Amino acid sequence: MSALDCKEIERHVKKIKVKNYEDEDVFVVNNSALEMIGKGRQGAVFLITDDICVKVYGDVDDCEREHYAMSLGQHTSLLPKIYCKGNNFLVMEMVYGVDLREYMQSQPLTEELSHELIKMLITFKEIGYERIDHHKRQIYLQNDGSLKVIDVGRTVWRNRTYPYPRKLLQSLGVDYRNLFIEHVKKIDSDLYEEWEYYMRMEEISKRLYGVLVNKEKVDTKQLKQETNKLLTTKDPDMHYKSLENLVSKVVKEQSKREKEKQEKRKKGKSKKKKDKK
Ligand SMILES: Nc1ncnc2c1ncn2[C@@H]1O[C@H](COP(=O)(O)OP(=O)(O)OP(=O)(O)O)[C@@H](O)[C@H]1O
Ligand SMILES: [Mg+2]
Repeated sequence: MSALDCKEIERHVKKIKVKNYEDEDVFVVNNSALEMIGKGRQGAVFLITDDICVKVYGDVDDCEREHYAMSLGQHTSLLPKIYCKGNNFLVMEMVYGVDLREYMQSQPLTEELSHELIKMLITFKEIGYERIDHHKRQIYLQNDGSLKVIDVGRTVWRNRTYPYPRKLLQSLGVDYRNLFIEHVKKIDSDLYEEWEYYMRMEEISKRLYGVLVNKEKVDTKQLKQETNKLLTTKDPDMHYKSLENLVSKVVKEQSKREKEKQEKRKKGKSKKKKDKK
């Protein structure tokens, strides 16, 4: 099979069923001759040649979205090249190297690696991704020390994103996260402070949410009794006074508005006169 014969690849893909399950990896029935090399919650990936693989999606919208996200970054060296696209599949370059989850099991997080990670975040931003964040298992260290990433579907078409790379930091684990943050601080203390600030805000928000959820339920009977203090019509004197206040407030506001209108009209007329002259 010629590597880039998309029609041929489509014939193989037709023999593969991929089904989504919430919060679980896809379920795959593979009646094709292609070897499956990995899967996640959105799709399964099959080997075409040593250099090319195909990701088959359970949901065509996920395919559309990842295709769009990958297209945006094709001019960078961060993403696998796309070769062709079908309704529910994407043919792309094979990414080799070691993913950072595996790498960090035995190797330290050096300053050089932290610099590569910062460069990756900058490239994400330059590409125009809304979410510049990635789990360490989706980041692959290459032979020349540079990084490549897979699985960029979730970087685009998002309403809300965290304003700092939360997933990356969390995925590093506490020790490596602190070390990475120290490396960031050495490069740029402003960026360090901004991340620290957002993390602090997140902690406070979490705590406050917990406080509100666990707060003793308000005694609504008691509350209803106390709202009496806000009522004004029960006592005739107070009622009369309140009404008088209301009417006088309305009159004041309306007369102010009327004055402003007249002034505007006057100005309009004198401008017309001037223009005629
Ligand atoms: N371009 C590629 N080159 C080599 N292997 C790949 C490539 N793309 C994906 N894989 C392999 O297939 C697996 C699943 O791919 P991917 O993470 O893109 O799927 P996903 O369903 O989008 O995952 P998630 O559930 O995290 O969204 C990866 O963990 C990786 O092992
Ligand atoms: Mg994905």
